[in-house]
Amino acid sequence: MSFFRWLEQVGITSHPGGWAATERLLALLKLKPDDLAVELGCGFGRTLSYAAKEFSVQVVGVDLMPALASKACDRLKREKLRGFTVAADICRLPFRDETFTVAWAESVFVFLPKPEAFLEAARVLKPNGRFGIVELTWRDEPHPDYCEQTREFLGVERYEVLTVQEWVAMLRSAGFAVEFAEKMPSHAPPSPLHRWLSDFWDLARLGFGLARQLPAKRWLEGAREIVNLYRYTVPAVFIAIKAG
Ligand SMILES: C[S@@+](CC[C@H](N)C(=O)[O-])C[C@H]1O[C@@H](n2cnc3c(N)ncnc32)[C@H](O)[C@@H]1O
Repeated sequence: MSFFRWLEQVGITSHPGGWAATERLLALLKLKPDDLAVELGCGFGRTLSYAAKEFSVQVVGVDLMPALASKACDRLKREKLRGFTVAADICRLPFRDETFTVAWAESVFVFLPKPEAFLEAARVLKPNGRFGIVELTWRDEPHPDYCEQTREFLGVERYEVLTVQEWVAMLRSAGFAVEFAEKMPSHAPPSPLHRWLSDFWDLARLGFGLARQLPAKRWLEGAREIVNLYRYTVPAVFIAIKAG
């Protein structure tokens, strides 16, 4: 079973950098109430709802896993926010060219065939549309075996961590001008206590849920994956603008 099926069964998603990365990303995207925004790989919809509530922006969430897309949609409805979600593949988005003024993704492109996915994000954005991502990069030097081990463990063939320069090159080759690229200090950067606690709570529930999906004989591998994630990688935030 792939990582995304596990996430779907647990019903909780997360991303490196937690709330601190989300707040940085959304602030840099300068969301306005007249934006039409799409979140690519919205998971269970925490950031989607937060963006809609905090910035009064109209949102569309996309996730490959139907149960996660539906959970994100329920959350929007429950909180009476403007928006909806769609279960779809980012590499084949069910939207017309130049639909959105802004798009973002948190810990999603690391799992995708990157050139295709970036081109698709560019296609659905209007000229001068803003695009932001939080994605994994190397803490120091690229580690020779980390990606292969992780691909095997997660069952996600296209998983690949890039250097900051490689992420920037990917964005540029899809027609974006990169305005901002910054590594975060760690996977759990400082944030207000209530935010930090909510990250901790989500991660604890996610970890417990994933451990229950995994056969006991693979728990050691899972623990090694978590240690290596923290040891070799950190998240980075990128902001790019589609050519006008
Ligand atoms: C690590 S989770 C992050 C979810 C969410 N951004 C968050 O921070 O909670 C990655 C998400 O990407 C979604 N995903 C993976 N491949 C996808 C694809 N090809 N198209 C759409 N969503 C995809 C997964 O289902 C999962 O919800």
